[in-house]
This record gives sequence, C-alpha cells and structure tokens, in this order.
Amino acid sequence: NMDIRDLGGRPMIIGGGIAGLMTALHLAPEPVLLLSRSPLGADASSVWAQGGLAASLGGDDDPALHLSDTLAAGDGLCDAEAARRIVYAAPAAIEDLARLGVSFDRTPVDAFRLGLEAAHSRRRIVHAYGDGSGREVMRALIAAVRSTPSILVVEGVEARRLAVEDGRIAGVVASGPTGPVFFATGRVVLATGGIGGLFHDSTNPLGSCGQGLALAAHAGAVLADLEFIQFHPTALDGPGRPMPLISEAVRGEGAVIVDETGRRFLEDVRGAELAPRDIVARAVWKHLADGHRVFLDVREGPGSAFERQFPTIASACGKAGIDPARNLIPIRPAQHYHMGGVAVDLAGRTSVPGLWACGEVASTGLHGANRLASNSLTEAVVCARWVAESVAASPDGGGRRAMTTDLPAPVPTPVRPLLSRALGVIRDGEGLKEAARALLPLLQRHDAASEPAAVGLIIVIAALRRRESRGAHFRTDFPHHATVARRSRVTLEAAIAAA
Ligand code: SIN
Repeated sequence: NMDIRDLGGRPMIIGGGIAGLMTALHLAPEPVLLLSRSPLGADASSVWAQGGLAASLGGDDDPALHLSDTLAAGDGLCDAEAARRIVYAAPAAIEDLARLGVSFDRTPVDAFRLGLEAAHSRRRIVHAYGDGSGREVMRALIAAVRSTPSILVVEGVEARRLAVEDGRIAGVVASGPTGPVFFATGRVVLATGGIGGLFHDSTNPLGSCGQGLALAAHAGAVLADLEFIQFHPTALDGPGRPMPLISEAVRGEGAVIVDETGRRFLEDVRGAELAPRDIVARAVWKHLADGHRVFLDVREGPGSAFERQFPTIASACGKAGIDPARNLIPIRPAQHYHMGGVAVDLAGRTSVPGLWACGEVASTGLHGANRLASNSLTEAVVCARWVAESVAASPDGGGRRAMTTDLPAPVPTPVRPLLSRALGVIRDGEGLKEAARALLPLLQRHDAASEPAAVGLIIVIAALRRRESRGAHFRTDFPHHATVARRSRVTLEAAIAAA
C-alpha cells in the first residue's frame, strides 16, 4: 500500500535549512518539491547559528585575505580552488540575502556591522540581532519560499532511502504520517545538515543524525574527509542537551578563557583565545582532562555590552542560573560541525548521477581539516546558487519503477556512546577499532539503529585510515602531520569491507 507520486520531472530537495531553502529559491521559477521532516524552521540547525556569515566586506578586507585565513585554519587540507571560488563569491551572496529581506545588523551609516571570530585576520562576520543570525536568515528565507509559487513544500515527511536504477537516482522512499511514500524523480538535492545527534555533547539539534550521509552512502556515493568533526570549545557546561553555544564572537569582543585559579592557560598559544578552533578546543579539553575546571570570563570584554550584543546567549546563561556580569561561565568543548560529507564538486554534483548535495552534508573542500568560523552558512548560500544552476541544466531521465520498502525512523541512542568515546577531541587507533567492532553488528541488525550505525562506521573507518593528526582529527598514536596532506575518500561498501 505504498503511496506513489510521480514528480513529473520536478527535482526534489531534501532538507529545510538555509542550504535547501536557498537552492529552492535559486531554482525558481523551475518547479521543485522541498521535503522537510519538520515544519520549516522547527529543527534545522541553521536556526541556531549565532556567529553569522563570513565575507570580506570591510574597507580593510579583501577576498584574498579571507582565502588565506580559510586555508590556514584548514591545516593544509582545503581544496584551494574550491575555497577561492567560494570566498570570492561570498560578498555577493550576502547582498543576495539582504535583497531577500534579511535584516543584518548595520552601523549608523548603514554599512554591515562586522564581527570578529577566531582565526580571522579581519572583522568580517555579518550577523543579525547580535547572536540571532541564523534565526533571522531563516525567517526571511521561509517567507520568501512560502511566497514563491514554484516551490511546493511538503512538511512532516522524512526521506529514508534513495532509489537508484542503472546507476542513476530514480526516486526517494519516504515516510509520512499516513505511511510510506515513493516520490519518482531523477534529480535529488541533499541538504540535510550534520551529525550532532550522534554525540552526547553537541550544540546541534538532536534530530541532526547524519540522515543525508546515510541516504548518500546507501546510494553508493563517495564520501570525503568524514574523520574531520569540529568541536566548539565554548559550549555552556551544564545538564542541558543539546548544549547551549557561546559564540566565538564573544571572544572576538574580548572574553577570555580561564581556569578555577583564574589563569588564562591559552596565553602561551599563538592567537590565544582566538587561535583556530581545533587548537582552542584541544587546549580546553586537555585542561579539563588534567582535572581543572574551565570558564569563559566576559566581565571585562564584552562587559556591560554583553547582554545587548548577545541576547540569546545571555538568556541561556540566565536559564542556567548564571549572571555573566558577575559569574564565570563554565564551558567545555562539544561537537559542533561536520567538515566531511558527501564528496561534491562546486556544482554540488556527487559521484551518483542525479544526486547533488549542499550545506553541511556536503564536502566541497572549503573547510579542510578545520572549518574557519562562520564559513559554513556562507558556503551554503554561495553553493546553493551553483547547485540550482546545475540541477536546472540537467534533464530528468524519466521512467522509473517504484521501490517499495518501509524503513523505520533512525534511532541514534545505541550509537551515541560509541561515537562519543571513539570520535572525540582526542582519538586513538584502539578506541576506533573497538567502535568499529561494536558498530558492525548494529548495522547488520537492519533495525532502527542500523542507519546511524552505518554512518558511525564509515566515519570511524575514515578516522582509522588517517594515520596522522591534522586539524580537528587528533590521534595520540599518530600525533604528527603526514608529509603530504591528502583528502580522504570512502564508500559504505569499502567501510564495511574494512571493518
Ligand atoms: C559561533 O558563533 O561561535 C559559531 C560560528 C560557527 O560555528 O561558524
């Protein structure tokens, strides 16, 4: 009793965050179906983005500087050409958003108010309502999508499998309130976000469980750089899950990291609190592991401006019973962003004909081994245009058989402790092998834990194969850089064979 719907040559976008909405808007007036598991804006991680979007808009800035900061943070692993194309297109993409109605914070003379974040050599982060950037971008994009007649939004339906016929995308098996649905289409864009829901300590919505990676992996797509998982150094340490984020922009305005004795233990590190994120996260992690407690001190900077500049963070502190004007804010690193993803070219094309990917689920090569702050929304907005152009230029093959499978909703709970232990800030071969041994049988059970286990296993295998430390991937058994930096590639089939 599968409900079968032929999209009549229309492409489908899976995911209702900034990447998916922007791709749909750029496709207009070509008809498109946008599938969102939840009502738009309800559980997309985009909504929670605080920092904003990086673009060289200041009078003292230049895309060449944005590029060199991106490459330096990426620790030798960025695709330099992809990074160059994206950062040079960033200022125009910000103007696109402003035209769509995003109300960015401005100076009295109506220029963009630019924030500073770690490892940026210039102030170049545009934001809205202080730390409410993602919320404001999403508000404007949802309004634009709702008023664009060519975009059909289907909410409350979750994609479970991609149908592949003769090596090409043939449709999407999904699950809705009335049961399974098969959407026949030859063109699918994945814009499903990240993997934070697979970890105990994450700043992402719990529902971000790598669904896009699972869809792509089962379709046979090549995945890239999966071992690179970014930990944000300053999540508010308390019982709340997901963990509230304290934006790097707070450190950009002068906040410092101290321990229980008041010592600024990052003082000896080049760049101190504004060193690249992987370096700060590792330093905080080690200090905690050494038995210290670690705090963010905002009393001097941003000081009295804190509440006005960072209302979302101030409210999270208030809920945790902390008054940042008087108290230190307890912090610890938390999973925050996945640099790796489905391998794509700059048009978003994956290795499977008919399948594109955009945003966090994709790996363009921009981020390398460690993403530069606020480059992710920028990447999503910039690449959405190129993805839309590529989708529009690729005709739909037509003529497909429905695939009739009813798959359970993924349940990440059994996988969470395994990945949190093996794929943390500090890793080692033994821990990774142990995780692989535990994940394989979960994957083979073909139940609700199997998809998250498949995603976990591919990442673990990628991390095992990278016998060096670079960027966010740090192994105690291989603590040094390899002489040559190579991006990694893996498929589900290869990961299972290696496990
Ligand atoms: C932050 O506001 O610190 C997060 C920005 C980002 O993850 O790019």
